[in-house]
Amino acid sequence: MADGVFSIGIIGAGGISAAHIGAAKASDGRVRVAAVADPSAANREKAAAETGAAAYESAEAMIAAHSSGATPLGGVVICTPPSIRVKLVKAALKAKLPVLSEKPLAHTLSDAKKLAALAAKHPRTPAFVAYCHRFAPAVLVMRKLVESGRVGRLVRFENAFACDLPGHKDKWFSDPRAAGGGAFLDMGSHSLDLFRFLIGPAKTLGAVFSHAWKKRTETAATVLVRGGKKNGTRIPAGVAGTILSGWAESSRFTLSLVGDGGTLFYDYEKPEEIIFKDLLGKAESMPVENHGVRFTRQIVAFADAVQRKAKTNLATFEDGLAAAALNDKAARLAE
Ligand SMILES: NC(=O)c1ccc[n+]([C@@H]2O[C@H](COP(=O)([O-])OP(=O)(O)OC[C@H]3O[C@@H](n4cnc5c(N)ncnc54)[C@H](O)[C@@H]3O)[C@@H](O)[C@H]2O)c1
Repeated sequence: MADGVFSIGIIGAGGISAAHIGAAKASDGRVRVAAVADPSAANREKAAAETGAAAYESAEAMIAAHSSGATPLGGVVICTPPSIRVKLVKAALKAKLPVLSEKPLAHTLSDAKKLAALAAKHPRTPAFVAYCHRFAPAVLVMRKLVESGRVGRLVRFENAFACDLPGHKDKWFSDPRAAGGGAFLDMGSHSLDLFRFLIGPAKTLGAVFSHAWKKRTETAATVLVRGGKKNGTRIPAGVAGTILSGWAESSRFTLSLVGDGGTLFYDYEKPEEIIFKDLLGKAESMPVENHGVRFTRQIVAFADAVQRKAKTNLATFEDGLAAAALNDKAARLAE
């Protein structure tokens, strides 16, 4: 179908698949979930019951049903743990199926390189990473405000994505071999992509990781990055990024863009306002659309990119690889 309803297949029907299913449902009929694949019968049957999608035990079976015309798809959304993405992406791209893969692109830098190479080998089949914060309205408004000169010369990006997730202690998320990294790979990869999206290319300068759980991955990370000059924008060279990621602390989902003329501040827990504070401390509240729309905007962007060849804010696999390289450097510095 060149345009109109965009049919997706979801590979991996666990926790985050619910956000993509909700996004498709909220897309006013633009996107529909036509197939789900998951070796877990309970998970695939739940997702199929919620969507009316055809259910498959494996991605290979789903892709075969697409290729035979039994369940035609416009693209797949990969929501599995990152360690098994290479074979799934390879199979999808081989079948000319566009891919939107959950973040992080991979659990290791080596797999991220393989995935970026696969995307480069299939230039006619779009492949994206689901860095959903690129679709949070506040992020886009803050980007415009910085570009308009509202904060003066940008000095610092401060971002905390942290909360208490005690359940992660017993899940693949904190298993060093399966996950590849902990709170920083999970939450910090969002932050690194946001830094690159808002500020531009970056270098990781320092990292301190902390481990609350024995023999598991890190539960907290404090990371310093520095940006380069973003040509064609107001972003100067040398913007500092302080990134705080955590799985075992009180919840903070905040983003500040600090300049020598004022600060923009967004708290995801107060989702409908951005605060601008001038140098004298005078605060102004600006209304903004709730970040809850980000998954819907993202899935519609996927449909637009595939069907209309639209230019969107979706992260490419090259962006995913760049975040993976910054992540990998942080993990090595923290050792
Ligand atoms: N964008 C976000 O804000 C956000 C939030 C949470 C998770 N995520 C990302 O989404 C990914 C999945 O996380 P989750 O919380 O949904 O994990 P999860 O463990 O809840 O779900 C993973 C699902 O994948 C299935 N699976 C495993 N191997 C499979 C295979 N070969 N084929 C098909 N399905 C397979 C599992 O059975 C399970 O149902 C991770 O990369 C995670 O970082 C992103």
